[in-house]
Amino acid sequence: MRTFRTVLAALICAIVSLFTMQAQNKYVGTKMCGMCHKSDKQGKQLDIWQKSKHAEAYKTLTTAKAAEFAKARGLKKPATESPECLECHTFGKTVDASLFEKGFDIKEGVQCESCHGPGSQYKNMTVMKDKAKSAAAGLLVYKDNVEIEKFCRSCHNEKSPAYKEFKFEEMWGKIKHAVPKV
Ligand code: HEC
Ligand code: HEC
Ligand code: HEC
Ligand code: HEC
Repeated sequence: MRTFRTVLAALICAIVSLFTMQAQNKYVGTKMCGMCHKSDKQGKQLDIWQKSKHAEAYKTLTTAKAAEFAKARGLKKPATESPECLECHTFGKTVDASLFEKGFDIKEGVQCESCHGPGSQYKNMTVMKDKAKSAAAGLLVYKDNVEIEKFCRSCHNEKSPAYKEFKFEEMWGKIKHAVPKV
């Protein structure tokens, strides 16, 4: 019985520390990611993203159209302060602001870490160069188009007051940002 309890206690400790470890993974912002992901050789991810509508997604919440949608949903606060809008126009879910590091700016809308997960623990070169280590440190990657599409649809769906039919191939074509094969 005692051994069982010891094992159980150890297990609980391990689970708790696993959660706190993840909780410490913070959002560092696009400038940090962009430092290493902007050259031609790397595939210009920063530039492709900056030119995409995702980079404008927060700004869109300041428009008259947004105020209309917010009103129609009976929201008491402006769209830029309502989790009901911010969840898709920034992250896909509500994120605790204590997880934002200094360089992070919510005004950058749907950004690198909205899709790849908070980067404080995977952003350094040694981790980044190693796929297994990056994944263990919280980097989200998607294994094939089926998974990518499923992920896109976590925001591109009928819960959006502006929903347009989501045509995956066409939409992915507009934002994809692969590292060029050498
Ligand atoms: C210090 C430089 C550096 C920083 C900062 C950095 N990366 Fe990377 N990243 C790399 C390198 C190097 C690779 C791997 C080589 C390659 O594929 O070009 C990589 C690979 C990746 C990959 C592909 C991983 C895979 O398994 O295919 C993703 C996605 C990625 N980074 C996202 C990010 C995001 C998001 C941030 C910001 C939170 C970031 N990176 C910050 C250097 C960096
Ligand atoms: C966190 C939520 C979220 C996720 C995840 C997401 N999007 Fe978006 N996407 C948006 C929002 C919000 C807009 C509208 C931005 C605006 O116009 O201000 C948008 C707009 C777009 C646009 C521009 C629409 C147009 O008509 O040109 C494209 C293209 C796009 N997304 C593709 C994708 C693809 C492909 C994926 C999956 C890899 C994806 N999105 C995942 C929230 C998301
Ligand atoms: C489920 C995710 C989701 C939610 C919740 C959401 N949006 Fe969006 N929003 C999107 C996506 C995705 C687009 C891009 C349109 C498309 O391609 O479907 C968009 C587009 C928009 C646009 C641009 C429409 C246009 O015609 O140019 C406005 C404005 C907007 N959203 C405001 C809001 C407001 C205000 C709220 C909160 C009441 C909100 N959204 C909640 C996902 C969402
Ligand atoms: C709307 C979601 C979304 C946004 C925003 C986004 N990415 Fe990605 N990214 C993806 C998806 C999906 C893939 C392809 C599958 C994968 O490797 O995860 C990808 C792939 C990558 C890769 C690997 C490419 C390869 O060929 O192996 C890198 C590097 C990367 N992203 C970096 C970034 C950086 C840096 C930013 C911000 C400047 C960014 N991404 C913004 C969804 C996104």
